[in-house]
Amino acid sequence: MPEVDKEGQEFSLEKRTNTEGFFLKGSNSLDWGMKNRLSRIFNPETGRTVMLAIDHGYFQGPTSGLERIDLSILPIAPYADTLMLTRGILRSVVPPSYTRAIVLRASGGPSILNELSNEQIAVDIEDAVRLNAAAVAVQVFIGGEYETQSVHNMTRLVDMGTRCGIPVLAVTAVGTEMKRSARYFRLACRICAELGAHYVKTYYIPKGFESVTASCPVPIVMAGGKKIPENEALTMAYNAVQEGAAGVDMGRNIFQAESPAAMIQAVGATVHQNLPPNQAHEMYLDLKNKK
Ligand code: R5P
Repeated sequence: MPEVDKEGQEFSLEKRTNTEGFFLKGSNSLDWGMKNRLSRIFNPETGRTVMLAIDHGYFQGPTSGLERIDLSILPIAPYADTLMLTRGILRSVVPPSYTRAIVLRASGGPSILNELSNEQIAVDIEDAVRLNAAAVAVQVFIGGEYETQSVHNMTRLVDMGTRCGIPVLAVTAVGTEMKRSARYFRLACRICAELGAHYVKTYYIPKGFESVTASCPVPIVMAGGKKIPENEALTMAYNAVQEGAAGVDMGRNIFQAESPAAMIQAVGATVHQNLPPNQAHEMYLDLKNKK
């Protein structure tokens, strides 16, 4: 039985209790667990994130650069704020002592041999909790053959995630036949946010990207896309965050770079320190040559 202690008297009546507003756009009304998980994905000091996407195998098998994730990715994973991957790779390759945020790929089904928009939910929210995921990610195919099904996958994950305090990242997937325009991305991102996504991953476009971020009420992270020269990828990341993105979710432009370790550090400086592209590229070359 603990001793009874005397009652406290220091109430600091002259000082008002501060109630912190949450740093992420559109996220102030979320519950504590959601906000805490989002704060593991997005750095509360900069409001931005560098997500390293390595989930490509869920529909296209051993992608170039991801043949041996233990050899290519684990050494650079500590430079990422967040790792985006499947539960199969998480359990089989990533050591549980890795404490950065995990965003779990939660949709799948078709391979590159079939219609990609025909996805279903591929992870139970209970397993995401068991894996201590900071968020789950789902592909949304606006305009695609299975548009409604993919939106429904997202809304079901939002319902499941809300019960457990796990945010949902909606990934706007663009069919090869579709035009990547500001109008399309405004439509796709807004639909995802309206229907409950806590943040959205979408592609950068040189014209009108600010209107995509402005019209989406929750944070947007920039998707990397196909490998392009390192200086161009750094320019794209810089422009995206200057035009309102809350960070990046890049895969091939990091792990297919000549020096993935140098690239992820240069992307980090671009995202978190607003390092202009020419300086970020110099940083990339310096780090690459030091190796
Ligand atoms: C597909 O759309 C997935 O989300 C990816 O596998 C991945 O996240 C794409 O990353 P990146 O285009 O930057 O290689």
